[in-house]
Amino acid sequence: MAWFMCLCLFLLVSLAFLVVSLKFRSSTRGLPEPPQLPALPLIGSLLSLRSPHPPHVFFKGLQGKYGQIYSLMMGSHRVIIINHHKHAKEVLMKKGKVFAGRPRTVTTDILTRSGKDIAFGDFSATWRFHRKIVHGALCMFGEGSASIEKIICAEAQSLCSILCEAAAAHLSLDLSPELTRAVTNVICSLCFNSSYCRGDPEFESMLEYSQGIVDTVGKDSLVDIFPWLQMFPSADLRLLKHCVSIRDKLLQKKYDEHKADYSDHVQRDLLDALLRAKRSAENNNTAEVSAESVGLSDDHLLMTVGDIFGAGVETTTTVLKWAIIYLIHHPQVQRRIQEELDSKVGCGKSPQLCDRGSLPYLEATIREVLRIRPVAPLLIPHVALSDTSIGDFTVRKGSRVIINLWSLHHDEKEWENPELFDPGRFLNSEGTGVTLPSSSYLPFGAGVRVCLGEALAKMEIFLFLSWILQHFTLSVPQGHPLPSLEGKFGVVLQPAKYKVNATPRPGRLFFK
Ligand code: HEM
Repeated sequence: MAWFMCLCLFLLVSLAFLVVSLKFRSSTRGLPEPPQLPALPLIGSLLSLRSPHPPHVFFKGLQGKYGQIYSLMMGSHRVIIINHHKHAKEVLMKKGKVFAGRPRTVTTDILTRSGKDIAFGDFSATWRFHRKIVHGALCMFGEGSASIEKIICAEAQSLCSILCEAAAAHLSLDLSPELTRAVTNVICSLCFNSSYCRGDPEFESMLEYSQGIVDTVGKDSLVDIFPWLQMFPSADLRLLKHCVSIRDKLLQKKYDEHKADYSDHVQRDLLDALLRAKRSAENNNTAEVSAESVGLSDDHLLMTVGDIFGAGVETTTTVLKWAIIYLIHHPQVQRRIQEELDSKVGCGKSPQLCDRGSLPYLEATIREVLRIRPVAPLLIPHVALSDTSIGDFTVRKGSRVIINLWSLHHDEKEWENPELFDPGRFLNSEGTGVTLPSSSYLPFGAGVRVCLGEALAKMEIFLFLSWILQHFTLSVPQGHPLPSLEGKFGVVLQPAKYKVNATPRPGRLFFK
């Protein structure tokens, strides 16, 4: 009798499960698949992807033929390209958890010890736990707290001193290493409670390995599409492995130093926060949060810190480089920001975070830079974790989803003259405050995978630009062409190298 009851119970549960899953499937069943680019067995749509344009521009152009949502095959992987904000928000926000997966690729696996980080790690308890710790550590230094502001202002001051020296010697400067050092030092203070001086050999090697990583990771290179190609020698993979091994030595050194002088009573930085979580999980093995269950291995800790470096330095530096390029191209914008700084902050004191509200034109300029040259024009690819839909199309579990932020930020229906650099579009009609004229604007992504460093990045961009423009006017050195507005596509959209003249403004503070 008992076995009969068990059988009935089993049948009932199975039936209920079947009904629920059929109900779910019927919500996506019947919908067509998105239009697909031609694809051949094995190579997928590779032949249709040849273009002189970078992928984000090319994908925007394909809308004319295939519509706002279409798909292509990268080898055996189905990839869905989203070009409209309505669908982007459905993916990132409305169905954020369904699309919270990340694809595994050869290059990101090398970079992150097979996804043991946040940005390329799959949606899991480990990912959630690490995001929470980083978020907590960033809040500890975060908005409203004086320490992050102090750290950024100290770096802004050092940057202005370098510009001052260059101006005194009548030298034009490639600002890239200086901006990178300033931003790196902010992240270093947050992660390791340390910073670098100019010319420090460790910093020089960091610059070198970062560029190597930017040049080789996540560009949908052939080896990421056809993983079996890694059997063959590849200069890119060799370079990536070399850069990753230099980065790992540096991270390991910092980790060992932190373990050696760790104390439960002080939390100096993010690494201490991670070590504390690891120790408390190890001391509390019976609790639901054991070190094993939340992935607090040494690898996870190192990759999480590596991620904050990777995601925090290159992105913010790149936005600053684009901002300076656009200011050089548009001296009238620069002048208007300086007038705003002169009237709202004056020249006797340096800009602070609390001045943000009274400098709307500078804020509008930053928003416009993030619109016209989004540093991550394709975000980071997402993956559908179950069968689902986007708009009127069905989407199969495992499909990769690329949000083409470039299409959103250059949509002619949403932005008047989208190719024009016009900070005024982000100002209210009186010019006294900032607005968002369109919902087609997501420079930091949105939803469960939204950028973890958005608040920090905004503070840095605001303070660095306001300090520089309070004291200097930036221009192109005589005889040089204006810097190129074309970006080089990679893990971030980087501008080409350029030099600037920083001319001190009369009557400003001097830096030593
Ligand atoms: C202006 C500078 C920055 C921009 C424009 C930017 C933009 C983005 C974008 C578009 C994403 C991908 C969102 C998605 O896949 O849906 C992202 C992810 C991420 N960003 Fe940023 N970011 C910036 C600065 C930073 C900084 C300073 C940090 C660290 C302190 C940071 C940490 C991260 C992390 C950890 C992720 C991965 C989040 C996840 O997958 O759960 N970012 N960022």
